[in-house]
Amino acid sequence: MLIAQISDFHLKAGGRVTYRVVDTAACLSRAVDTVAALDPAPDIVVATGDLTDAGRPEEYEKLRELLAPLRQPVYLIPGNHDERDAMRRAFADAGYLPASGFLHYTIEDQPLRVVALDTLVPGEAGGCLCEQRLRWLDDALAAAPERPTLIIMHHPPFVTGIAYMDRMGLSGAAEFAAVLSRHPQVERVLCGHLHRSIQARIGPHAIASTAPGTAHQMALDLRPAGPSRFMMEPPGYQLHLWRPGVGVVSHAGVIGSFAGPYPFRDDAPTRDG
Ligand SMILES: [Fe+2]
Repeated sequence: MLIAQISDFHLKAGGRVTYRVVDTAACLSRAVDTVAALDPAPDIVVATGDLTDAGRPEEYEKLRELLAPLRQPVYLIPGNHDERDAMRRAFADAGYLPASGFLHYTIEDQPLRVVALDTLVPGEAGGCLCEQRLRWLDDALAAAPERPTLIIMHHPPFVTGIAYMDRMGLSGAAEFAAVLSRHPQVERVLCGHLHRSIQARIGPHAIASTAPGTAHQMALDLRPAGPSRFMMEPPGYQLHLWRPGVGVVSHAGVIGSFAGPYPFRDDAPTRDG
């Protein structure tokens, strides 16, 4: 099973640019074209939050339009820039989002089970896994202990070292790790929010990671007082390959046009020069 992960589109509608720099619609369109052209084609696509920049209904309409070329099922979770009910309304016909409450759900019809978590706190940049959400997660995992499982959520459950992002981190991360320690079938926790590729171990056995954004990337700045800034580094996506008996192997893909591929071949050396 092959899972493509795209994240943090920060989509605006009406041709407006984000932060006066980023044409997020054009960026998402390129990301979708890249994923749609993958061979082999991913079985599903997961999008790990900050789908829109302001959670406006017209942004979700634009999102539907831009995701339409993807032929496989696309599963969305909200980030701190999203608006729960506007997102729910825009994608009601997809059938997997609950009609009320948190936008949690599970995907049961794939070899690798997916548990989607909603870490959104309206009006706040940081996320939360409160007691209610952790209980839902614990129950969801307890329902299928034998099935290898992937969790998707926006806010990563680890401290990244990028201080300006860690200040808008996830509350309940320690409790989340405690839940995972009871459910060893969780192979990976796939997140967004950081607009960079980062990995960390969570609890005794699971690997958590963040994906690059499809548009702008957070500046890689590990100084404790580093300011909040972004870079127009190459955007990317992740490809997670799951095979029975092997587990999940994750690849990083870059979005853009690059020279190659070339064969590994040098010109034959000539003895006479
Ligand atoms: Fe974001």
